[in-house]
Amino acid sequence: MKIKIRYTIFLMLIFSSLAFSQESSLIPFPNKISQKGGVFLISAETKILANAPAAIQAAELFNSWLNQTNGYTLPIVASVVRKDRYIAFSALTDTSEKYLLKVRRKYVLLEGGPAGLIRGTSTLLQLAFQSLENKGQISCLKIYDQPKFGYRGVHLDVSRHFLSKEFVKKYIDLLAIYKMNTFHWHLTDDQGWRIQINKYPRLTDVGAWRSGSMSGPYRNQKFDSIPYGGFYTQSDIREVVNYASQRQITVIPEIEMPGHSLAALAAYPEYSCLGYVKEVGRGWGGYEDVFCVKDSTFTFLEDVLTEVMELFPSKYIHIGGDECPKERWSKCPNCANTRFENNLRNDEELQSYFIQRIEKFLNSKGRQLIGWDEILEGGLAPNATVMSWRGIEGGKAAVRSGHQAIMSPGTHCYFDHYQGERATEPLAIGGYTPLEKVYAYRPIPDSLTKSEQKLILGAQANLWTEYMYDEKQV
Ligand code: ACM
Ligand code: ZN
Repeated sequence: MKIKIRYTIFLMLIFSSLAFSQESSLIPFPNKISQKGGVFLISAETKILANAPAAIQAAELFNSWLNQTNGYTLPIVASVVRKDRYIAFSALTDTSEKYLLKVRRKYVLLEGGPAGLIRGTSTLLQLAFQSLENKGQISCLKIYDQPKFGYRGVHLDVSRHFLSKEFVKKYIDLLAIYKMNTFHWHLTDDQGWRIQINKYPRLTDVGAWRSGSMSGPYRNQKFDSIPYGGFYTQSDIREVVNYASQRQITVIPEIEMPGHSLAALAAYPEYSCLGYVKEVGRGWGGYEDVFCVKDSTFTFLEDVLTEVMELFPSKYIHIGGDECPKERWSKCPNCANTRFENNLRNDEELQSYFIQRIEKFLNSKGRQLIGWDEILEGGLAPNATVMSWRGIEGGKAAVRSGHQAIMSPGTHCYFDHYQGERATEPLAIGGYTPLEKVYAYRPIPDSLTKSEQKLILGAQANLWTEYMYDEKQV
């Protein structure tokens, strides 16, 4: 396992070591960087000087990463003597992600608040890793760094294919090494419900398992009959959230509604419009059975969200909201009744009613709602943040009406797309998103005013796993 982890981080970092100089190949590139003459030599004899708890925590994280990339750790000490070469981790009370990294011949200084120290640790790791090819040398330099965006997210779909808790932690490490600060965990979908909910055990007893899966490309409509599934216990979830928090990463859970909910409805068909749902989804793509818009559904979802909020301290809770077919609603007496009682003109307004009702609940618990850009249809919930995935128009519309947005357009941010020549890559969902395109992506579109620009919180990459069959491929 250890060798596998080291290999993954090694692969991710080797990209940076191919460039011509250490500091120019840092990813993401720092805000301000200046080079001095000379080098600092790092080796297993180098000491880490750290005193405050936040400094020690960052130093320990550095050691655990360094062990994976360089194969050694450094002693953490509370004081040094003249002849020592050392890396000082110095904790400030700053709550931002800013950090200062100074590399001198005798010492390295990394200074920042708790979050800044973790971000600086990522830079230091990239330099330390590159030093392996350079006889342990790190060029003397000075870096002032701070992120341009407060939201830098990466998503992972664990519904279509389940990924182990250990793998999720490895994924979170990679996020941290590239200074991402949000992990969006897509925990529920048509093809599997992956989070234990104590009040509704069938969600995982039934909803976490399917009788087979689509195999090969969607157009072939071929299926295997191998039972498939898995889920995280509440204790697993706590462990992952805590692991991420030590890396200054917030985990935002996504609980899909009203669409993409077949797995939940297979477990509790009473919350569907027909009162009957055949099974957890085996094929990719959408399903007509969605949550019925009636009071008992909201009671159920509020109970679920209550347990979710106990597990995830994040300010934001993602409720999906994308790709909800309206066929069932249009023929359902319960949905018709909700439309009538609330003077809703059509099913777009019914969807908006659904999202607004959930938003009210989340807000009453001090949380904020994020949804995919379909939540704009029929009128946006008053405090919602929009995640723009069908291009950037949803994000633009959101900020123009005073809402926050996160940019995640399929054109640049869908990492399940092909990233090279199709013939040389495993089957993917489609698209073409090479590295250069992603790296060049700028989340603020032209034509926004200054105040609208401020409402773009940042960007997010999404990794859907319909065609990602195992951890290796992810
Ligand atoms: C999405 O890709 N359906 C958000
Ligand atoms: Zn209904």
